[in-house]
Amino acid sequence: MSEHHKMDAPDHARRLDDMAQGLIGTAMDRPDGPLKVSGTATYAHEWAVDNLCHGVLARATVPTGRVSDVAAQDILDRPGILAVITDRRLLRNPAQGGAGEAPVQDPSRIAYFGQPIALVVAETFEAARDAAASLRIDYEETEGTYRPEDAAFETPEDKQSSQGDLDAAMAQAAHSIDVTYTTPGHNSAAMEPHGAIASWDGDDLVLRGSYQMLKHNRKEIADSLGIDPANVRLLSPYVGGGFGSKLGIAPEAVAAALAARDLGRPVSVALSRQQVFETTMRRSETRQRIRLAADAEGRLTGIGHDAWVSNLPGETFAEPATQATPFLYGGENRQIGFHVARLNRTCAGSVRAPGEAVGVTVLENAMDELAEATGVDPVDLRRRNIPDTDPSTGKPFSSHTLRRALDDGATRFGWNQRQRPGTRREGDWLIGLGMACATRVNILAEARARVSLTADGRAVVETDMTDIGTGTYAILTQIAGEMLGLPLDRVTTRLGDTDLPPGSGSGGSMGASSTGSAVYLACRNLRAQIAARLDCAETDLTLKDGKAIAANKTTDLAGLSDGTLTAEGHIEPGKTREETRQATFGTFFTEVAVNAVTGETRVRRMQGTFAAGRILNHKTARSQCIGGMTFGIGMALTEELMHDPRDGHIVNRDLAEYHMPVNADVPQIDVVLLDERDDWASPIQAKGIGELSICGAGAAITNAIYNASGVRVRDYPASLDKILAGLDDGRG
Ligand code: MOS
Repeated sequence: MSEHHKMDAPDHARRLDDMAQGLIGTAMDRPDGPLKVSGTATYAHEWAVDNLCHGVLARATVPTGRVSDVAAQDILDRPGILAVITDRRLLRNPAQGGAGEAPVQDPSRIAYFGQPIALVVAETFEAARDAAASLRIDYEETEGTYRPEDAAFETPEDKQSSQGDLDAAMAQAAHSIDVTYTTPGHNSAAMEPHGAIASWDGDDLVLRGSYQMLKHNRKEIADSLGIDPANVRLLSPYVGGGFGSKLGIAPEAVAAALAARDLGRPVSVALSRQQVFETTMRRSETRQRIRLAADAEGRLTGIGHDAWVSNLPGETFAEPATQATPFLYGGENRQIGFHVARLNRTCAGSVRAPGEAVGVTVLENAMDELAEATGVDPVDLRRRNIPDTDPSTGKPFSSHTLRRALDDGATRFGWNQRQRPGTRREGDWLIGLGMACATRVNILAEARARVSLTADGRAVVETDMTDIGTGTYAILTQIAGEMLGLPLDRVTTRLGDTDLPPGSGSGGSMGASSTGSAVYLACRNLRAQIAARLDCAETDLTLKDGKAIAANKTTDLAGLSDGTLTAEGHIEPGKTREETRQATFGTFFTEVAVNAVTGETRVRRMQGTFAAGRILNHKTARSQCIGGMTFGIGMALTEELMHDPRDGHIVNRDLAEYHMPVNADVPQIDVVLLDERDDWASPIQAKGIGELSICGAGAAITNAIYNASGVRVRDYPASLDKILAGLDDGRG
């Protein structure tokens, strides 16, 4: 049986609210948690596979050119070396998220430093690594472009938009701001490095990998190899973080598959941390110019946002830094400009909220500058500029919670204690408060899931959906338990196997609402099947604690049928996406201390208030928000990919040199989740929450730095050297 639903109209029925089990929204522990902390959850690299051999990628030591020779013979007669794979089908770089087809192949054409060229396979990892390191590769080098400063930017027509006359609005404005900020590249920095084990059974490939979107990844690897996707089975039951870096099939997977085919035995390819930095994805650096025109009371009459980003030749992805600017604030004169350069640096792709993470951050810095210029309190300035409808299209918002998040956040945080910039000091520490808004586009994606109710009254949820540390196992278990009236210990969720119905995958914050909706639909169908057996309407059925109550009669779900009842749910995005503007909203409030002697910033307090439709699990949702705000601390203060200007190579290519916030950098984070239902977003009224809390978080910190010290750093991160220079210039 199958239940298909296209989201063409809002779902005001809110059926989840009528259910009796009481699981939705509760802080269920992740069922995968004990497995992960006890080391019994099997990650990609950990599968015990017989007769396994090991491949290590040999990579370019020049940034641009052609490979003229790979001296494979020099290493092939070493003990334990099995093969040197130089297949044209090896990947130059990973596929972009959702591509569903092969990325650029043929690694003999070199586009960036560290690009994979060959795979050296040996009996042991150590032998393969040693041989790969000494494999002689000859090049014909060519000139490349390694710095944005040297690049020619294209201005693709379909990425520009304009309404009204921004220049005139700027000229006539009572107050105007015209500022340019830069943000550096970022690495996803997932805890689990990429790894893949490939084995073949005849023409059938089994790939154990670490991936976010299996239904797309299956097509990507099949297309890369030139085989039918039906011959590919991908397994990713546990994924140690992705943050975008595992959205698309990456070089290690295709290399492992090619080698395993050639050698007729399973091959494992694991990337080192340095290889993850250099050969998976980076977030593009950005330059962003924001223009704001406002009347005397701070009401916006115009907004302009220009972004300059980069990627490799041949890549379509471009960091969508202007994505939220069309709808966050009002103003009738608007202009979006978007500019892309081709740079010979590691491929740029989705990293932790592509677009809004850096785009909303810079917009929220500019709003802080406008607040300063107009003398309007930053919270009031936002309140005055909340639009009633999408200011770019006139469409209604599916739901809008920014005002609530501003009011609630400001009150809880104690925003009224904020003082004029540079006026609060405790010894050597300058103390300041800052705030910023959060927003992220919301997406419902196609997804399928199967739910079975066994004769003994247990449910099994099955989909190829992944859990990348976000809580998917928990929330799908909760939805099924809620709909079928089963306690948590009677529901099992199986994920991460392409033999199961294709879910949405994890990415773009769409996993929970999309795949959750598929599970909901399957369960609705099962409820109808149960009702038919009890001769009542599905809507008259109460399911609780393994029992069905209908017309005052109670029946045990165990034994209700001889065999297993099964249903597949299938959700598709429909017209509501075109008819409404769908986004999530929130606010950040922070208190920082800036050391007047060293320029060091310590984040003392951080508070986030968010709304994302129905919250499915308060613990996992809150944890996502803590993670996002922690990324905000990193973005504001330390995270920065550094490229050698001579050849574009990433200099700080490990977690010792690329500085993520650690425990000592993160204060107690206060997260408030506002109660909301978004009837347009999904039949479970949920929206995506995974990425919302990084979108603007960094600005709350840098705005607080300004309030503390009077120093406005427009070149992220706001590291101590830049703050110190500002203190020396202006204050002292
Ligand atoms: Mo995300 S950066 O779409 O995994």
